[in-house]
Amino acid sequence: MKVTEHKRFESVYWVELDDGTRKLATVNLARGCQVYGERLVEVQGVEYRLWDPYRSKLAAAILKNIKEVPIGPGKRVLYLGAASGTTASHAADLVGQGGCVYCVEISSRPLRDLLVVCAKRPNMAPILADARHPCTYCALVEKVDVIYQDVAQPDQTDILLANVNAFLEEGGHAILALKARSIDVTKEPREIFRDEMEKLEKEMEIIDAKILDPYEKDHAMLVLRK
Ligand SMILES: C[S@@+](CC[C@H](N)C(=O)[O-])C[C@H]1O[C@@H](n2cnc3c(N)ncnc32)[C@H](O)[C@@H]1O
Repeated sequence: MKVTEHKRFESVYWVELDDGTRKLATVNLARGCQVYGERLVEVQGVEYRLWDPYRSKLAAAILKNIKEVPIGPGKRVLYLGAASGTTASHAADLVGQGGCVYCVEISSRPLRDLLVVCAKRPNMAPILADARHPCTYCALVEKVDVIYQDVAQPDQTDILLANVNAFLEEGGHAILALKARSIDVTKEPREIFRDEMEKLEKEMEIIDAKILDPYEKDHAMLVLRK
């Protein structure tokens, strides 16, 4: 097995398996612990978690060649729609011990699993809250460098902008997973992405947008700057 760092993104790795296939990976901050059944591999004393693009839209966006991944060592990240921590745990690996991932989740069922993940990772903080109301968690969250959002709601753009106004540093980044079917099932996904991007452009700079097919159907990933 061979490991190389991704050419553009710090803390993102390629693991070349013995059969010659290449997989994305992050260094496991909680040695020996899996979050979603992902494969763990050890190379030269370092444990890596293979990062599944069919389970994590951020991995899918990297494989689709997104221009920037602003989540890196030492960054403070507000993660909206953390579910049971699949992608949030990889974000925690990326920011490392010097960074922090605040994980907001509205539903208590996935939050139960998220609590277990956070208990093993001191740089992850679970928050049971509705991301539509940033004031309900503003006492728990500081200003952040990055907001990552994946809530699959009809008003996902408005939810992002409310949190950008409340928590994002000037010059900070947002990563938005847009799910077309959550916004309007009757419209063409590309039409929906265009409309949402027009809304976002009034408040932020759009750095890149990628359609996530074939990893996620009818999804786009956007990277934005405040
Ligand atoms: C597609 S899943 C997220 C998957 C996760 N981001 C990952 O890659 O591991 C969407 C999650 O957003 C949560 N969610 C939906 N609306 C929300 C809201 N208003 N505030 C916070 N979380 C919300 C859902 O309960 C669900 O767990």
